[in-house]
Amino acid sequence: MEIKIYPDEVLKKKAEKVKEFNQEIRDIVNQMFETMYKRGGLGLAGNQVGVLKRIVVIDLESGKERQGQNKIVLINPEILEMEGEQLNQEGCLSLPGLYKKVKRAAYVKVKAQNADGEDFTIEGEDLLARALQHEIDHLNGIVFIDRLSPLQKRLALQRYKKLKREYERKTKKK
Ligand code: NI
Repeated sequence: MEIKIYPDEVLKKKAEKVKEFNQEIRDIVNQMFETMYKRGGLGLAGNQVGVLKRIVVIDLESGKERQGQNKIVLINPEILEMEGEQLNQEGCLSLPGLYKKVKRAAYVKVKAQNADGEDFTIEGEDLLARALQHEIDHLNGIVFIDRLSPLQKRLALQRYKKLKREYERKTKKK
């Protein structure tokens, strides 16, 4: 799968709920993990690969030896509870090279369905809480720089313009 790069329109759209849990959905999930691992990302949302379905994959140990042992699949995820606050660096495969400190809740409780359509809830703190919020934002057409103050966002976009040019040069060479 090809990763969509900001400001691609698909990143600004709201993804649609998954209603049928079939082989197509399981294939998309597997391909999303593959794409995420190839790029060493910790999470990936449907929008980022041009699939406007509410599907998120997360593996906080992507790129490490334990890759694949803690796969998290969230279909139709919804945040039930949020608590506290954290301020930490965030990045995104759709904004290559850009890292900014983003304020997020320190704890979240999320309900979702797995690839077979079964309901479950997941609680996360720190990095997991951050990943859950970041990926669910994607499904709602929000990228992490949208969570910055207007001034910070403007500065981030200036920096990103240069990074995007470098990224495009590098990917063209390959
Ligand atoms: Ni992202």
